[in-house]
Amino acid sequence: MNRITKILNSKYPIIQAPMGWIARSQLASAVSNAGGFGMIETSSGETEMCKAEIRAMNGLTNKPFGVNLPILFLRDESMIKLVVEENIKFVTTSAGDPAKYIHILKDAGITVFHAVPSLAGALKAVNAGVDGLVVEGTEGGGFKSPEEVGLYVLLQSIRKHTDIPIIAAGGIVDGVGMAAAFAAGAEGIQMGTRFVSSKESPVHDNFKNTIINSDEQGTYILNKKSKPCIRALKTEFTKKIYDDGIMDMSSLKGIKDLYFNGDMNAAPALAGQSIGLIEEVKSVDDIISSTIDEFNTICKNMHSYIF
Ligand SMILES: Cc1cc2nc3c(=O)[nH]c(=O)nc-3n(C[C@H](O)[C@H](O)[C@H](O)COP(=O)(O)O)c2cc1C
Repeated sequence: MNRITKILNSKYPIIQAPMGWIARSQLASAVSNAGGFGMIETSSGETEMCKAEIRAMNGLTNKPFGVNLPILFLRDESMIKLVVEENIKFVTTSAGDPAKYIHILKDAGITVFHAVPSLAGALKAVNAGVDGLVVEGTEGGGFKSPEEVGLYVLLQSIRKHTDIPIIAAGGIVDGVGMAAAFAAGAEGIQMGTRFVSSKESPVHDNFKNTIINSDEQGTYILNKKSKPCIRALKTEFTKKIYDDGIMDMSSLKGIKDLYFNGDMNAAPALAGQSIGLIEEVKSVDDIISSTIDEFNTICKNMHSYIF
């Protein structure tokens, strides 16, 4: 047990990343049932659907789960009300200023972790009163900072300045990544790309297979000069955005067609550099148990490396 498993009340400190439309009850319940911690997304902006998904969790698992709130993309306070009314105990906030809603969430007794891509962002979040951080390296998929700082530099620099509990995200798919993140100051890991390509993930096989068949150079960072800056798979669709150097928000319009109908050129397919480490579609249970086994073996072997 460590601070993260104590806070989450989960068996393992392995969190499934919030991902618009994807991080719903099918995937999140599989993660929670396997001893990890499932997250329900609200980035889709579909309040009623998110409420139904939160309620569906109660029928699919008796294990704890959380909800993500992407501050910048919330149209109004309906998602904030939703997590309070549905008695959610753990929330991650991302993409925006955590100070905006922290008081409402804390007054409702909710534990709040904020996702940060920089030391400055981390210190600001700590000042705002968050309970912990999700430290996101540039390796990861989805919305990213244009500064492109790698996870292990970020973890070390943030850990030097604060003792707050940290969940590491970006480029982690197994016990090797977990052990490295723990060595650099994390007490939990969050995986997105690995769970997107799991058996229980609701996305189309075309997306899963492209992840499996790509190497570590198979993603672009797009839209660095505007918002949102994202990391996505290299496709015909994203090559044009990369060459243009700019992306209109309307480029994300076809994302459901990509995720669920398998049209890989309908939108940018959000994914991280860890595509180079993912070789097969595995069940959530297999991903979590093999990550923990590998992590435990590495920790034991580390003793023999002492000089
Ligand atoms: C398909 C996809 C969708 C994502 N959508 C969101 C989102 O809606 N909100 C959010 O905070 N992060 C989102 N992310 C980022 C993840 O939360 C996480 O930080 C990232 O996936 C970690 O890196 P990894 O992909 O290397 O595991 C998304 C990532 C992926 C791959």
